[in-house]
Amino acid sequence: MTALRTLEAAAWAGEVAAAFVERLQSTPSLRVCLPTGATPIPVYDALAARIGRGDASFAQATVILLDEWLGLPPGDPARCDTRLRAQLLDRLPVPPAAVHTIEVDAPDLEATVARHAACSLDLDLVVLGLGINGHVGFNEPGSLPDSPTRVVRLAASSRRAAMARYGSATVPTAGITLGMDRILAARKVWLLVTGERKAGILRRALRDPEGPDCPASYLRRHRGLTVFTDSEAAALLG
Ligand code: PGA
Repeated sequence: MTALRTLEAAAWAGEVAAAFVERLQSTPSLRVCLPTGATPIPVYDALAARIGRGDASFAQATVILLDEWLGLPPGDPARCDTRLRAQLLDRLPVPPAAVHTIEVDAPDLEATVARHAACSLDLDLVVLGLGINGHVGFNEPGSLPDSPTRVVRLAASSRRAAMARYGSATVPTAGITLGMDRILAARKVWLLVTGERKAGILRRALRDPEGPDCPASYLRRHRGLTVFTDSEAAALLG
């Protein structure tokens, strides 16, 4: 059963951050996988403020990065690790007990993939954005519920668009993503969706039969799924 929490846009980020604070309070050793992208930025702002006020702490938590580009140098502004650090991790008064980014600079990518799959076992919570084409992480259309953590070739158009957005000089070649298998094995999954432009794909993900054209639709088989949406993105759910 999907829990749908539809919130007014102005309240959305604060409510998601409040739910996250509750998770950290009840499970201080939370093992959580976090995304980048535009959607979670206001949540990270609100969360950093709450943590800064002492409402909860990441000190015993483990943070695992959802996905990462290949072909960008360390510190590139478009790198997911750079962005997650700047938007959340570097703003925490006490850092998480462990942070697992994806070691894309290592020479052996298969070993990197294996390490990421290993460190993302036993997740308490996976937080996801929703791609405009129905992807979650870099699990692009065509992905299946058992798709593993892996290297993913990405369409040139989506790579260029993302880089233009994030101000990177380099266009990545591919990505590494947490697999659908690990996402669906987590204890809880939160899908964060905001804005009118996501209304069509959110309807597709939640209301039409599940299928590989929209990997996010597979999330509905997860009993611990909560969709946090604002009223604009929820406009077509009926
Ligand atoms: P966005 O991206 O949060 O930047 O809209 C979501 C995604 O593509 O996963």
